[in-house]
Amino acid sequence: MEKIIVTGGLGFIGSNLINILKKKYFIINVDKANYASNFNNIELGIKNYKFYKQDINNRNFLKSVLKKYNPTIIFNLAAETHVDKSIDGPKKFIESNILGVFNILEAIKDYKKKIKLIHISTDEVYGDIKKNYRSKEGDPYNPSSPYSASKASGDFLIKSYIRTYKIPAIITNCCNNFGPNQYPEKLIPTIIYNLLNKNPIPIYGNGKNIREWIYVKDHCDALIKVAEKGIVGENYNIGSGILLNNIEVAKKIILIFNKIYSIKNIVSKIQLVKDRPGHDWRYCLDSSKIKKKLNWKCKSNFNQKLNETIIWYINKFNTNYFKNQNFKNRQGLKI
Ligand code: TYD
Repeated sequence: MEKIIVTGGLGFIGSNLINILKKKYFIINVDKANYASNFNNIELGIKNYKFYKQDINNRNFLKSVLKKYNPTIIFNLAAETHVDKSIDGPKKFIESNILGVFNILEAIKDYKKKIKLIHISTDEVYGDIKKNYRSKEGDPYNPSSPYSASKASGDFLIKSYIRTYKIPAIITNCCNNFGPNQYPEKLIPTIIYNLLNKNPIPIYGNGKNIREWIYVKDHCDALIKVAEKGIVGENYNIGSGILLNNIEVAKKIILIFNKIYSIKNIVSKIQLVKDRPGHDWRYCLDSSKIKKKLNWKCKSNFNQKLNETIIWYINKFNTNYFKNQNFKNRQGLKI
């Protein structure tokens, strides 16, 4: 069985990816079990699966795991990802998203055997995008937050290793994900969690910031397509084409909650709060390359998957899943 390393496999996108990959590959999950990692994200008893509680900054470990398993692909999903956290404390973002990438590249450089690195990046590296424009692969990077700057730096390191050392790597730039297993610090699970706790929904600024939303499993399908058919040295944008502002997202979730619980005066639950510093107004990807070249398309219906995601959180609420995750958002609202 072909062996694949997934870094950050206890996190949101990594765990969803493993749950698909396990049908076909032997998976080595390297995750440092950080605050957003959750052991419940991976089902127990998978035979073709090995977990290592390790940081990607541990180069000796990376070298030994490459030697032991001879994997053919590494998906790098080990990253600090929350913009607000990067504003409060950027150092961890530099460590994971830049130095961590550097370590993976060095381990691959020393490895000598054939291996492909699929590095998961973000649409945020392109920066704030004007109305009616879609970011294309090859557009200049123009990051705004310490988070997006750290991701951009990691991407640049990879590009330099592709050119200088012929490291076979591919970078993917995806839009905002939602779905099961997402830690409730990002917008969609924050809204759901606050509604479940009967707290107001904190929306930053005027709530008109636009994001492109993809269901996590569509993203994972794209990643597998890229790993199997993508051209080494290239970037692939992965977007759904579903663009919504934050108030629209909140209203959609409220509507679904209304159907499930018939909550009265639910609209007054939206609370406009102090804006995020440096808050990007809009992200939007041109994903025609992956559609044309790799024959990928976003299959899911947004409203249906949002509904399923809400039901997933309702089912997990008050279970052990979120136990010990004593999370407070920036406004100090306990969720
Ligand atoms: P987020 O989920 O943090 O993703 P990103 O900033 O990486 O796109 O935020 C998505 C949008 O939602 C962004 O415009 C910030 C906004 N937002 C709120 O308005 N309130 C919140 O509590 C959070 C977490 C985000």
